[in-house]
Formats: sequence, C-alpha cells, structure tokens
Amino acid sequence: MPVATTIPQFDLTRQYRQLEPLLAPLVQKVLAGGVYIGGEWVAAFEQAFANYIGVPYCVSCNSGTDALYLALRALDIGPGDEVITSAFSFIATAEAISLTGATPVFVDIEPETFNLDLNHVAQRLTPRTKAVVPVHLFGRPVDMGRLLALAHGHGVAVVEDCAQATGSHWQGRPVGSWGTLGCFSFYPTKNLGTFGDGGAITTRDPELAQRLCELKNHGQRERYCSVTVGVNSRLDAVQAAILQVKLGYLDQWLAQRRRLAQRYHELLADIPGLVLPPDGPGHSWNQYTVRLARDDLTRDELRAQLQQMGIGTAVYYPVSLPLQPVYQFLQYDPAQIPQAVAVSQQVLSLPLFPELTEQEQVQVAQAIRQVLS
Ligand SMILES: Cc1ncc(COP(=O)(O)O)c(C=O)c1O
Repeated sequence: MPVATTIPQFDLTRQYRQLEPLLAPLVQKVLAGGVYIGGEWVAAFEQAFANYIGVPYCVSCNSGTDALYLALRALDIGPGDEVITSAFSFIATAEAISLTGATPVFVDIEPETFNLDLNHVAQRLTPRTKAVVPVHLFGRPVDMGRLLALAHGHGVAVVEDCAQATGSHWQGRPVGSWGTLGCFSFYPTKNLGTFGDGGAITTRDPELAQRLCELKNHGQRERYCSVTVGVNSRLDAVQAAILQVKLGYLDQWLAQRRRLAQRYHELLADIPGLVLPPDGPGHSWNQYTVRLARDDLTRDELRAQLQQMGIGTAVYYPVSLPLQPVYQFLQYDPAQIPQAVAVSQQVLSLPLFPELTEQEQVQVAQAIRQVLS
C-alpha cells in the first residue's frame, strides 16, 4: 500500500493561503476592469520586471517555452543554423531551437553545477553557430563572464534560459541581464510563479524588443498589418497583476530558499555516496538536487523508499536531451555526453519551496539517513 505523501516536493497552496487576502480582491479588480488581454496590468508588470532584472526592456509572453522560441526568432535563427545548448535540461530548451528550424547542438555538462561545460561549448562552435543557450539549471548561474567572452569572440548571440533562475545572480548581476536576450518562465513552481502559464524576455536592445512585440502578436507592426509570421503568445492581465504583487515578495522568498539550502547542506553532510550540490554565489535554489552515487542502491530505489516514508521527491531529468526519442535522428552516442548520462541516473530533487518548515526538513534528512546508513 503506498503511503500518502506527508512532505511534498512542492506545495503551492501554502503560498496562496498567505497571499489570498491580497490576491483575491486584486483578481476581482482586474476582472471588473474589463481588460483581460494587454492593457495597463501587463505594461506595469513588464516595467517592474525589467527594473528588477536591470534592463530597459521586458516583453511578456505566454510561457518560458515561447520566450525561448520568440528570442531565437527575433535573432533570425532558422534552418541551416546551429544553436549550442546543454545536454541536460527540460525539453523546452531544445524544442524552442528545433521549432525555429535550426539544429540543436548538445554539449556535456559539469556534474558539480549541472550546467553546460564551457570547454565543450568552445569545441562545438562552427561557422554555422548562431547562438548559445546556457541554462541556469536549478537556479545555479552559468559563468556568464566566460561564456560571453567566448560568444563575442565568435560573433554569436547568447540567449539565457533563466526559466529556473529568476533572481539568480552572476557576479552580483541578475541572470537575464547578461546575454543578448534573457528568457523567463512564470510556471507555478518557478521562483516567481503565477497561477497558470506565463513568460518574459528581457533585453537591452530596443530593436530586438520591438521585433519580439511583433512576433508575439501575429507578426503585426500595426493592427492588421503583419510583417512576419508570428504567433499568439500573450500574458493575461490577471496573471500580470498577480505576478506584480508576487514580485514584491521575491527577494524574501529567495532568501528563504537560500536558508533552506544551507540547512540541507548541514543536515545531509557526510552521508556516504550522497553528493550535495555545492553552494555558489548567486544561486537561487529553485531546486535542491542531490546525486546518489552508490553501488548498493539506485536513485530510483532511494526515491521509492522515501515515497514509502511519505516524502515526495522529483527526478529532473531522467533522460538527457540528445537521448530523447525525438532527437534520435541526430544520432548522439551516450559516450559524447558521459556526464549528462551519468547525472540523469543519479539526480534526485528534494522538497524545497519557501514555505517548507525546518521540522519538515529535519524529517526529510532523517529519512534519507535512515535509508542510506
Ligand atoms: C530550463 C527550462 N527551460 C524552459 C522551460 C519552459 O518554461 P514553460 O513551462 O513556462 O514553458 C522550463 C520549464 O519547466 C525549464 O525548466
């Protein structure tokens, strides 16, 4: 008989309950205002988010997936082009590249940070490379100084996948302000999540911002005058209003995520075969992802035992991108991406969300120790 999960990997209802007194009347206000698409709520959130990231422009859209797709389209990336990205990410990163008609070029990762290995990026740059898409996975920022130097040296754009990293910093500067374009997701479990889908693209470039506005709105430059084949990708007014309120809490939630990660470091230290994610300045801890590297117990067995003890965990991600069925035609050999393959069999993301209590963390740690000792 499976045991009911008593400590979930994430629980979105706790945050909603805290904010309900603010959000319920706000939603009513937006609904009563009669403008549900575009309008002042969306414009106000875009301005607030641009300010938060420290760039002049933010163009909102329907999802993080759309943000990546629109960003690549704005750069005129298409068939015949190559875009380098990490072999270890959510499928959306690769999908956005493929949807433009370009070819994703997957590089292996650093197992400690889970982020793309910049030495491999350097090796895979060709005259057909048009962009690099670094993914700040689990909130851990990529070394943007080194990546930009590499990209600029080859004249290629950098499109940051910040879906899991809203509020992360590299050398004190927010992710999403380093690359040519920064792509964010407001999916409910992200650091800044809404109650549905949402996304945004940040940039310093006014022409790219203009092009993004056209692309996300049927390619229209003016009403009923389409200059390119675009899509319909809009952030709803209700979601924008909610996001603006939540943005005011983001720094306090990020501080809490950092505290929780620090406590996991202490509670889980010195367990044989359990590799903890190293601290990194500017990490926003969207996920606390450990690796289990033991011969006597697999990650899936650990996960099943924790589930029996009522502790929810998640596996992000069990199969690396080039080995997904959809990319079989690219004929990657697992030997080309050994770290991504190994890590995909070892990773386990523990419960972590700002409202997780210290007592719950102690229970999680005790359960892990019990299984692994
Ligand atoms: C790394 C990464 N990129 C892109 C996305 C896509 O974001 P969305 O779900 O908002 O489309 C996600 C979402 O999970 C993600 O984790």
